[in-house]
Amino acid sequence: MSKKILILAGDGVGPEITREARKLLDALVDAGDLALEIELGAFGGAAIDEHGVPLPDASLELAREADAVLLGAVGGPKWEAIERVRRPEQGLLALRAELGVFANLRPAVLYPGLEAASTLRPEVVQGLDIMIVRELTGGIYFGEPRGITENAEGEREGRNTLIYSEGEIERICRVAFEIAAKRNGRVCSVDKANVLEATELWRTVATEVGVGYPEISLSHMYVDNAGMQLAREPRQFDVMVTSNLFGDILSDLAAMLTGSIGMLPSASLDANNKGVYEAIHGSAPDIAGKGIANPLATLLSVAMMLRYSLEASELADQVEAAVSTVLKQGLCTADIMSSGCREVGTAEMGDAVIAAL
Ligand code: IPM
Ligand code: MG
Repeated sequence: MSKKILILAGDGVGPEITREARKLLDALVDAGDLALEIELGAFGGAAIDEHGVPLPDASLELAREADAVLLGAVGGPKWEAIERVRRPEQGLLALRAELGVFANLRPAVLYPGLEAASTLRPEVVQGLDIMIVRELTGGIYFGEPRGITENAEGEREGRNTLIYSEGEIERICRVAFEIAAKRNGRVCSVDKANVLEATELWRTVATEVGVGYPEISLSHMYVDNAGMQLAREPRQFDVMVTSNLFGDILSDLAAMLTGSIGMLPSASLDANNKGVYEAIHGSAPDIAGKGIANPLATLLSVAMMLRYSLEASELADQVEAAVSTVLKQGLCTADIMSSGCREVGTAEMGDAVIAAL
């Protein structure tokens, strides 16, 4: 049965990296490995320019109908002055909320050969393989009340609300435990339970869920310590599960351990494994249109899409292996350059991965 995919290229380097993803998907279809219907939609700043909003109804409708959505990137200086509710980033948050993709999987894997690209010593990061499971549709990103108002003294006051229900914590913890069961059997739940009640509940519920997974070892860590431990000895972690805001911060930190944020994919899944897939890097306006952006994070996001939403895990393995092969051949985009590498652009890197398949 043919599956429906929506590509939302968005802004900055989004169009050029999703072009490589499209090439890869077309190659899999041509090889007879996959049957796909691919649609394109307007999103982010590009959609603001064209339709006045970052997530037009037509794009949301296509996203609802699709089995999986592949995102490029959103945002850029051009749209930073617009009022908050109409900015490109709001389109991304609305898409996550509307599709209910609460489970954000952000693997931080150091590919052999890229040890020198990390700012940490090679012996600290060699073989690194962490999975960060970030709650994506709740917490302080979405909590009400929120806003900037004036208090009784006539002073401006900014307010956001950190709120998690038991059910929200439980379902994201389950995702983390299930993933750990297929990996190394360890979950570290990250909170700030010494200060924040909402995360005290997080710790309690994580512990309760853990009772149902006796084969998984569960530990808890305060987020400040977790940041330190990621920089100190990152290989102690297998699966980390945490709230929306903490996950946002820790996943950028973990990304940098692997040498380049240009390498890391992500999947955001709902309860039925419908997903939104995107590189975790942003729109990189400084290099947009130059043909030098690293497409590997997006190609690895396609691999995650194959695995989680398209029931094609063998193809996912093949795409990941092809990426490894290309890196072993010494091909590098500018962001992962080190001595002994041959520098290639976005399209050449995409072609090399397809050739290695
Ligand atoms: C991410 C990004 C987004 C987030 C922004 C662009 C809204 O930083 O996906 O990590 O904060 O979730
Ligand atoms: Mg982020």
